[in-house]
Amino acid sequence: MKEGIYHVPVMLHEVINGLQIDPSGIYVDCTFGGGGHSAAILEQLNSQGKLIAFDQDEDAFKNLPKDDRLIFIPHNFRHLQRFLRLHKISKVNGIIADLGVSSHQFDVAERGFSTRFNAPMDMRMNQGEKLDAANVINNYSEEKLHRIFEQYGEVTNSKTLAKIIVQLRKSQSLNTINEFKNALYPVVKGNPEKYFAKVFQALRIEVNDELGALKEMLQQVPGVLSEGGRIVVITFHSLEDRIVKNFFKNGNFNEEQENDLYGSLQKNELKVITKKPIIPSPEELKRNPRSRSSKLRIAEKKRVSENIS
Ligand SMILES: C[S@@+](CC[C@H](N)C(=O)[O-])C[C@H]1O[C@@H](n2cnc3c(N)ncnc32)[C@H](O)[C@@H]1O
Repeated sequence: MKEGIYHVPVMLHEVINGLQIDPSGIYVDCTFGGGGHSAAILEQLNSQGKLIAFDQDEDAFKNLPKDDRLIFIPHNFRHLQRFLRLHKISKVNGIIADLGVSSHQFDVAERGFSTRFNAPMDMRMNQGEKLDAANVINNYSEEKLHRIFEQYGEVTNSKTLAKIIVQLRKSQSLNTINEFKNALYPVVKGNPEKYFAKVFQALRIEVNDELGALKEMLQQVPGVLSEGGRIVVITFHSLEDRIVKNFFKNGNFNEEQENDLYGSLQKNELKVITKKPIIPSPEELKRNPRSRSSKLRIAEKKRVSENIS
């Protein structure tokens, strides 16, 4: 990544096409980052339009353009509705969420996200939060560590890894990336780079409660989107993608629609626009290899005239 480039926006045209922007509408960018998607949305808006952008990382502040149509909210997008209300906005015309970490977060050694550098085991997107990766490693029970590595990282020998961490942490420090990697090297299965990438993914998801925040945000979407309004979500791993896919299709996080208290199928106010996820073009993959695992899904809030089922 070239010096100075904060983040290259993924599937920019697909996001803008997907949102079907009304120039005088109100839009939300849940994940401002380097502001690439936000800039493209602002380009489409006229002077009546508004963009509300969230980012929980204060490093993102430096990318804010001077634009009266933009309101920046330096908080977790799990509080979507609360902050919209605070700004007296009850409905928006579209929402984009481009999940995960930015290239900037990944490329700054001290943030502790990347296995490439030595730094404290941090991994917090919001540096005001107490829980960091070192905390998880030093304080979580063996069972909890096992579950995190298995569920969030699909680490093949997650049980052994959890057990060894709990043994080692009694006698040695696992607070930096090098300490952690060197101590755990004997349990690595397969390619060490890939192995630690999975372990780090699991820790990062836990530290930032990424799946919890995503679920909370999605549950607020039907309530804040206006009829015909669209939500576009870009995910980077299968756990997130499954959550988004099920929610768009069923209105919950299961594989099927559920029954309500009266035994009828629970209403789903969203309809799926992308039956299959959109993926980056070969040209984009070549230009921006970090887009490689991304998947984009779109849903639309049904209109009253459409059967809500
Ligand atoms: C992949 S980057 C987004 C890049 C952006 N779309 C662009 O074009 O530059 C994800 C950003 O979202 C932020 N983020 C991730 N999860 C968040 C959450 N739950 N609440 C608020 N911000 C979050 C991260 O701090 C990061 O800056």
